[in-house]
Amino acid sequence: MTNIGSYDERLEAFCWSIAEEELDYSDAETKNIGWYCSDRICRMGKSGKPALIWEGHDGTMKQYTFNDVRLASNTIGNFLKNLGLKNEDRVCLFMDKIPELYFSFLGVLKIGAIVQPLFSAFGDESLHVRLANAETKAIITQRKHVGKVRRILDQSPYLKHIIIVDYDGKHPLREREIVFNLEESIPVEEFDIFPVNTESPSVLHYTSGTTGQPKGVKHVHYSLISQYLTTKWVLDLQDDDRYWCTADPGWVTGTSYGIIGPWSLGVTQCVLDKGFSAENWYQFIEKYNISVWYSAPTAIRSLMKAGDEIVKKYNLSSLRHLASVGEPLNAEAVIWSEKVYGLPFLDTYWQTETGSIMISNFPGMPIRPGSMGKPFPGIVGTIVNTKSFEPLEIPGDIGLIAFKPGWPAMMRNYWNNEETYQSKFKNGWYIPGDRARLDSDGYFWFVGRDDDVINTAGHLVSPFEVESALLETEQVAESAVVSKPDEINMEVVKAFVTLKPGFTPSPDTELKIMNYIRKKLSPLAMPQEIEFVKSLPKTRSGKIMRRLLHAQEWGEEIGDTSTLEDED
Ligand code: WTA
Repeated sequence: MTNIGSYDERLEAFCWSIAEEELDYSDAETKNIGWYCSDRICRMGKSGKPALIWEGHDGTMKQYTFNDVRLASNTIGNFLKNLGLKNEDRVCLFMDKIPELYFSFLGVLKIGAIVQPLFSAFGDESLHVRLANAETKAIITQRKHVGKVRRILDQSPYLKHIIIVDYDGKHPLREREIVFNLEESIPVEEFDIFPVNTESPSVLHYTSGTTGQPKGVKHVHYSLISQYLTTKWVLDLQDDDRYWCTADPGWVTGTSYGIIGPWSLGVTQCVLDKGFSAENWYQFIEKYNISVWYSAPTAIRSLMKAGDEIVKKYNLSSLRHLASVGEPLNAEAVIWSEKVYGLPFLDTYWQTETGSIMISNFPGMPIRPGSMGKPFPGIVGTIVNTKSFEPLEIPGDIGLIAFKPGWPAMMRNYWNNEETYQSKFKNGWYIPGDRARLDSDGYFWFVGRDDDVINTAGHLVSPFEVESALLETEQVAESAVVSKPDEINMEVVKAFVTLKPGFTPSPDTELKIMNYIRKKLSPLAMPQEIEFVKSLPKTRSGKIMRRLLHAQEWGEEIGDTSTLEDED
């Protein structure tokens, strides 16, 4: 039995108060997410239940109960409070996926401060622009990353405290640095959690746009309502699950569904702080009996690339539910996962700005591979015309995805950027900036970012469609399709591809690929050129950055590249 039961029945009877009631929201002593993810779970009798099972890159394993999480977040909160930090101050988390990262997230929230998680792999400049934009007062980090903070210190007068969680005493501390050691601290049993209200700011995630500086997306404590219920109904988390969200909390998936969602439900989650390889991942699933797995298409495609044989070496029978987010999930990947794991990856669609899942394939609902699924109950979503922002007929043409504003987890602003925030609303709709179409049964089909759609000779071509076709060939491992300028057609389609092991770039390989996809695509969508590359540019969260390739083809400026994977 799935948590959601019947999607259609939920749709009819839906009200966000369902989540409020399940969480005893109106009677709760505080609306603080920090309390909901630890204290409340202990109070429900689960204090001894594992909350976090963690494995480090060297194989070290640690396990923490919900009571451990409660105490650790109290202790960190108390430490921050004693430093003079208070509600609405921005506190940055700049750590690998170590346990302190997860506990600090709740600790910062417990004092009413705003938590600003950033990828620890960011370089100096990426770190600096985000701290400067938020005027962040404190940063919690590790020895290995403190050098970057030191190098930007002169330009960061607002940054008062640099808290190091793994100081070894070997080198003297520098200006503004202070040590916090969780294991050596006296656990704080009782802590006065800051009495936030529903609209108090909670999390500030930075997201890169197509142009300009990254924007700080401001969320509030009320986001819990959406995050709790979407975790329950879409990820289908149940009391005895072992859940693995592969995302880093530097990305919104790693907080909404890698901390708040599972812990507000009192579910055990597993974290692997180790680089990607098919072996590492399958081993992790087998060792910890992962049952629910939330990942991303690039990872899934990488697993596809690693092949079917390796899957057979591991016992993955604990898996019962798989979901994906972040970029288009090709039909091919859904079909493949069903073949090798016996379970399809269910696609989910949302954004940093939406804070929670907006459109998805629901457990128990027939899947249409390649489709993102249907709106979450309570979310009014449609497709609007790109100029008038009026809803299009259904089924209909490609248009912009649009949502009626007002769900609990929606961003409340971009930090110090009201103008860009306002520009996201048109004709009473929130416009995420993606193109899609709706079929007659209400399933959404992703086409591309608003600025990625290729208009060739007046015909709109979805890069996703071409990429999916390429992925179906036996040669192609990964693909990215962009437009390139053309005198006659304005734009034509160009494909960048990486090849699977055993294939080499050659005119013959190109011909074989072309001959295969010709059968799949309309002649207008056929690439004019296939360029073989060793790797494709990706963001830290694993998304292929088509826009870099697009800019390269058009001779344009690249814009913000701060989340590029290979930047140090
Ligand atoms: C894209 C991610 C296709 C989309 C949680 C969106 C997707 C942007 C999907 C948000 C999906 C996300 N299919 N595209 N299932 N999910 N996207 O803010 O363009 O990092 O607007 O948040 O990723 O990316 P963000």
